[in-house]
Amino acid sequence: MKMPSLLTGDVTGLRGVDLGVRDVAMHARFYTDVWRLAVAAERDGSVYLRGSGARHHILALHPRNGPALLCINLAAADREAVDRLHARVTAAGAPRIGAPGPIAEPGGGYGFAFLDPEGRSVRVIAEDARHADAHSLPDRPEKITHVVLNTPRQEDAAAFWVKALGFQVSDRSLLTFIRCNADHHSIAFHPGESATLHHIAFEMDGIDSVMRGAARMRDAGHPIAWGPGRHGPGNNVFAYFVGPDDFVIEYTAEVGKVDQNHRVSEPTDWAYPPGHSDLWGVTPPPSDRMKAAQKKIGFAQGLFHP
Ligand SMILES: [Fe+2]
Repeated sequence: MKMPSLLTGDVTGLRGVDLGVRDVAMHARFYTDVWRLAVAAERDGSVYLRGSGARHHILALHPRNGPALLCINLAAADREAVDRLHARVTAAGAPRIGAPGPIAEPGGGYGFAFLDPEGRSVRVIAEDARHADAHSLPDRPEKITHVVLNTPRQEDAAAFWVKALGFQVSDRSLLTFIRCNADHHSIAFHPGESATLHHIAFEMDGIDSVMRGAARMRDAGHPIAWGPGRHGPGNNVFAYFVGPDDFVIEYTAEVGKVDQNHRVSEPTDWAYPPGHSDLWGVTPPPSDRMKAAQKKIGFAQGLFHP
């Protein structure tokens, strides 16, 4: 079958994620008081949290029997882009796909859900509500800048997102980093035994906010599990934590921007000072606790419905 064409920029960015948790109220308290998101809406036991950016919400917490990644949400340019992406995802062989239509949740919009070949629920959404008061604020995450996913088939997983959604490979290290806009990566695939969540990264306005956030996390009982440091691919500053229910979450800043002149690196291009795992040579490898948590969170079965 001839692949329906996409336009550059049909997927404009990573909109956010939907998480399933046992105790929505506890998570909502954590993600507001400590992590510094703000409540954008509440409905039917779910809480929708925004950053300081324009997106209606970036993190949604839904009551479920246990922790799970329910859905990864991508932003599309407009409804024509949604329809083009729907045709393209269908032709690329997504195992399940819903019809484009209105999104029945706070923020609204027009979009569709599908499963990628490893059973991850993904939605593409356009024309959703935006906040007029978006601006960068100290100590407030602006957006979710990337989600890293474990997979036993790293290159196949990345290839599907490239073919179906128009992502481009930015770099390869142990991970494969893919982008859908000027941000170095919005998704990365990490080698793993099954399709699980590795971590979710929230972008801060600078290093000071990352470090003050690390202090809040330590005081709340979540010490830095990896970092602070500066990554090779993406060149971003990072601090990782094991959050409530063992979701691994990252504060990051200074995420690199790339353009069409960017050269894709290979794993042998990256080297760090001996015994360290970042460009500064300041941070030792991740804690065992974090490495265990980075394999624990699975995807909910089936297409996501709010
Ligand atoms: Fe990250």
